[in-house]
Amino acid sequence: MKAYSEMTKEELSAELEELKKQYHKYQEMDLKLDMSRGKPCREQLDISMGMMDALNSQADLTCEDGTDCRNYGVLTGIQEAKVLIGDMMENNPDNIIIYGNSSLNVMYDTVSRAMTHGILGNTPWCKLDKVKFLCPVPGYDRHFAITEYFGIEMIPVPMSPEGPDMDMVEKLVSEDDAIKGIWCVPKYSNPQGYSYSDETVRRFARLKPAAKDFRIFWDNAYGIHHLYDDQQDYLIEILAECKRAGNPDLVYKFASTSKITFPGSGIAALATSPNNLEDILKQMKNQTIGHDKVNQLRHVRFFKDIHGMTEHMRKHADIIRPKFEAVLEAFDRNLAGLGIGEWTKPKGGYFISFDALPGCAKSIVKLAKKAGVTMTGAGATWPYGKDPEDKNIRVAPTYPTLDDLKTAAELFTLCVRIISAEKLLSEMN
Ligand SMILES: Cc1ncc(COP(=O)(O)O)c(C=O)c1O
Repeated sequence: MKAYSEMTKEELSAELEELKKQYHKYQEMDLKLDMSRGKPCREQLDISMGMMDALNSQADLTCEDGTDCRNYGVLTGIQEAKVLIGDMMENNPDNIIIYGNSSLNVMYDTVSRAMTHGILGNTPWCKLDKVKFLCPVPGYDRHFAITEYFGIEMIPVPMSPEGPDMDMVEKLVSEDDAIKGIWCVPKYSNPQGYSYSDETVRRFARLKPAAKDFRIFWDNAYGIHHLYDDQQDYLIEILAECKRAGNPDLVYKFASTSKITFPGSGIAALATSPNNLEDILKQMKNQTIGHDKVNQLRHVRFFKDIHGMTEHMRKHADIIRPKFEAVLEAFDRNLAGLGIGEWTKPKGGYFISFDALPGCAKSIVKLAKKAGVTMTGAGATWPYGKDPEDKNIRVAPTYPTLDDLKTAAELFTLCVRIISAEKLLSEMN
């Protein structure tokens, strides 16, 4: 099929009429499909049910070092969980704090502590006139929600397949001491599925921020979430790279088992330098006596070690890979060559990012919704929910069944074609 921009007005009008007929057929199907959130599907949750048998009333809940997990204590997490999560995060267990059930909560807490108490003796951010964060875009809406909540000004930084625009990052952080942080999803990013190149990671580790309390918020949520055995992205480990670059305190790294076991009932962790750990623990000891050690032990007994976790991730991949491929196949079949959209082809993570023609994303999402398919709200991938070009849409293929997803992807591409044709026709008129 010809690119829409090369069609005559008559051709495009005929195309639109035909597309609308197809759309009405979908409307009659009374669909209720959801491609909005990056949630694992039921079969994915089922593969972790063995975790429920890892502990029972006969189990010995004593750790290797003699800690009784049923009782209070152990602020930074049990040693065997630190070893397991350390292997998952590629960090030394001594650099890790195991938290509770959500890494987002740890990120919120980290920003909150910097606001009220400052980082390593620096002025608390709440006492400063202005605090700013860099936000690679498109990005994760819940990151942006945290910084918005604390009144932190967010500055968008464009993403490329190599990662954020590092010329811009270097320039901004070296010139403006009000810039205190940057949100990063460095591997299989949300929503594009991009992984930062070696050069990007090296440049991050060598930043020379004007603010002494500038930190990289390195949310490695999808570190082991590969879709393929043979094609996997690789990421330089940031803590080690910062240490090599003489910048050991520059980064807070976050991860969790949310999309490995049960989201909301997994374990989360933070890895950082000894200085930063000491700073954090000063607060944390006033906040809690310790997190859920029984759940930490349950995860360790279920996986045994990182090899158990890697095997487990293969099972996830087997479930969700066909879903990613079904969406990409529908995009290719229905949109390739039309010049009305571009999309990413991730090798891992939870999302596909779709860029429509400028000014079309909101209308596409609305039209899909009218026929019963819910997408992530257009704009959600930008700070303040405002995509200046109104073009990015995050596609989350994991949750629906494969059949539902195929239907949803067909309808979505139909909506893209209708809205794009209408836009181009209105420009011709
Ligand atoms: C980049 C990123 N970070 C964090 C999370 C949430 O993690 P958690 O469940 O550990 O709070 C998500 C979930 O979608 C995510 O995409």
